[in-house]
Amino acid sequence: MQEKIRALRERTEAEIGKTDTGRALYELKMRFQAELKTVMSGMRELPKEERPAFGKLVNELKESIERQFEERAAVVRKKELEAKYAAERIDVTMPGRKFRPGALHPVTIVRNQLIDIFSGMGFKVYEGPEVETDYYNFTALNTPEDHPARDMQDTFYLAEKLLLRTQTSAGQIRVMEKEKPPIKILSPGRVFRSDDDATHSPMFHQMEGLVVDRGITLCDLQGMLAEFARRMFDSSTKVRLRPSYFPFTEPSVEVDLSCAECGGKGCRLCKGTGWIEVLGAGMVNRRVLENCGIDPDEYTGFAFGMGIERIAMLKYGINNIRALFENDVRFLEQFR
Ligand code: PHE
Repeated sequence: MQEKIRALRERTEAEIGKTDTGRALYELKMRFQAELKTVMSGMRELPKEERPAFGKLVNELKESIERQFEERAAVVRKKELEAKYAAERIDVTMPGRKFRPGALHPVTIVRNQLIDIFSGMGFKVYEGPEVETDYYNFTALNTPEDHPARDMQDTFYLAEKLLLRTQTSAGQIRVMEKEKPPIKILSPGRVFRSDDDATHSPMFHQMEGLVVDRGITLCDLQGMLAEFARRMFDSSTKVRLRPSYFPFTEPSVEVDLSCAECGGKGCRLCKGTGWIEVLGAGMVNRRVLENCGIDPDEYTGFAFGMGIERIAMLKYGINNIRALFENDVRFLEQFR
């Protein structure tokens, strides 16, 4: 019996010394207690007079081993904490991780600038649908079927009378049908045409402006565009109107700005003319007003439409429209 107790003590003491995690120590303790129980159950077989001495031995063993468990547990806990602290250590002097801030796309920048300029003049933003009916995109804009002007824009048809809008002008009709003058809206958005070269993309953005009220004249259009040109480019930018044709405006004009590159002297950008064509505009055709239930004898209006990509290309000196749609980060990063 005494032999058994000594063996248990020696084995347990040796194992305590080798154990170095709290969990292993706990398991060892459970095992020791079970084994001690077995040893104690042998007490019944001892002669009565030997039992007290045996009990004393067992108690001594129990107390001594338990003390050792506690001491070891304190050491192990300390070690484990140190390891945890070492693993979680933060070097506050290390340089921080760099964030790569994003930038707005140049088309978004110009779009926002345009909205800023025109909303300062009292325009409200209206966004129409990209999928339009033939009626809003053409017919109501005085471009009935078989009208030759339909060939000015190569249209993506989705169904016989349904198409991807080719111009934000479709929004003019939607607004005039609902609202009565005075009307002053700005309509930015995506438009689609089957067209693809260095200056044309099958999807691009336009910004439409529409003003309808009593006594609106072409002079109002010119004055407002002059202000737009000065704000968008620089204060010396001049505006020139040239006669043109759009079915939904009469008279119609093509609007040129003096070349920002050469100041109007003539350069490669303006092909020696000193002027750059930037947008189409005109006085809203009487027929269009009538189509929307607005009396053309009481009200007049002007409209203009510009390509946002075109403005961005002029402003930033981009010579291929594709650069705007390839989303090459090296290109886009320059517009911060
Ligand atoms: N919608 C015309 C185009 O896309 C531009 C325009 C708008 C012209 C408004 C006149 C008035 O070419």
